[in-house]
Amino acid sequence: MAVKLLTIGTFDLFHPGHVALLERMCDLGGWDSRVSVGVNTDDFVLAYKGRYPVMTLVERLEMLRSCRWVDEVLINKGNADCRPLVEEVAPDLLVVGSDWVEKDYLRQTKLSREFLERHNVGLLFLPYTASISTSSLRRRVESVA
Ligand code: CTP
Repeated sequence: MAVKLLTIGTFDLFHPGHVALLERMCDLGGWDSRVSVGVNTDDFVLAYKGRYPVMTLVERLEMLRSCRWVDEVLINKGNADCRPLVEEVAPDLLVVGSDWVEKDYLRQTKLSREFLERHNVGLLFLPYTASISTSSLRRRVESVA
């Protein structure tokens, strides 16, 4: 049976750090893996980060759909409450980059250990790629503009 993996994020200015995470997810699930990505809405990003993403939701969805490691792309309509998306996808593993280890991922997503256990979902932090991020790309663009 396919191993279902889900990650949820903004994925603005789609970059090699994002790709590395998605490729690792695919490797982890083996030949029969199914990688789903939940994408945050523009308004949620504004509320959470205080500014709109550079790329619209539609553009971010399109980039993710073109990625060879991704099987399914969904809108995270629950915004800060990721429970509806987790219930919809019903993954075996919920995956996030290790930059979240210190940021209380469960509280910020309204998930809890109890919720994940009840739905048989494991939570896994994969290595964060330190050399690049959406924020650093934004700064790079500003510095050359
Ligand atoms: N991620 C990663 N390595 C990076 C950047 C992101 O593993 N260099 C992971 C994050 O941990 C998250 C997912 O990719 O699980 C989506 O991250 P996102 O916040 O969209 O990208 P960032 O580049 O981290 O954006 P920002 O700089 O705004 O925080």
